[in-house]
Amino acid sequence: MSVAKKEYKRITTKSLVEMKSNGEKISMLTSYDFSMAKIVDGAGIDVILVGDSASNVMAGHETTLPITLDQMIYHAASVVRAVERALVVVDLPFGSYQSDPKEALRSAIRIMKESGGHAVKLEGGKEIKDSVKRILNAGIPVMGHLGLTPQSIYKFGTYTVRAKEEAEAEKLKTDALMLEKAGCFALVLEKVPAKLAKEVAESLTIPVIGIGAGNGVDGQVLVVHDMIGMTHEFNPRFLRRYLDLYHEMTKAFEQYRDDVKSGNFPSDEEQY
Ligand code: KIV
Repeated sequence: MSVAKKEYKRITTKSLVEMKSNGEKISMLTSYDFSMAKIVDGAGIDVILVGDSASNVMAGHETTLPITLDQMIYHAASVVRAVERALVVVDLPFGSYQSDPKEALRSAIRIMKESGGHAVKLEGGKEIKDSVKRILNAGIPVMGHLGLTPQSIYKFGTYTVRAKEEAEAEKLKTDALMLEKAGCFALVLEKVPAKLAKEVAESLTIPVIGIGAGNGVDGQVLVVHDMIGMTHEFNPRFLRRYLDLYHEMTKAFEQYRDDVKSGNFPSDEEQY
């Protein structure tokens, strides 16, 4: 049974702001392909993020940097074809918006036109302010992303918790306010202290969606392959696994292998 406070036929950026003011938490998961997105959407998840984490979980890269705009559009279009209710947010990949606002707008337009996604997400604060504003001016909804920003991994050097020190926490608070003022409809906070994330969520009217940011925010996001246990070697403290698919799938594949080798598959009923 759903614990939603209000039924939404279709989630929009406005629905998310309404959820925050009604005290309803927002559920968000990643998806990168049609079949997964169909299940995630059918389960009533509010927001589907076509994250650049596809670079890690779909393509096997070590970081999110290599994924291209064309590849993000391919993943996003596959997700959009499956979705009936969720809001689909698509990451602008590394290299598609950092150089200047015009390029950022061109990339965002390509995502909206070629994938049918409903909004874009960009990593960063004041450094990307002009790009965020230009995209918003074109009528494209923008979700911000602060805290651990994986596209800057080579600047920071590690994936550890961000904004533990006063100066970084202050910058994060200023950036969050700037993104709200610029017109972003929501903000992701990744891997920051729970107390700081709660403070930011309480200071903004737009929803703050956390990953490794505690329970004082307005919603939660996880990478779907992590929460269903397909990626069994990634074990951060913030991750709750709802399934152990790595082991379940391994058992199924081993059983299939044995059934084929022994001649047990297909049976008389499984042939024409
Ligand atoms: O790419 C992604 O999956 C993300 C989430 C971790 C928020 O940005």
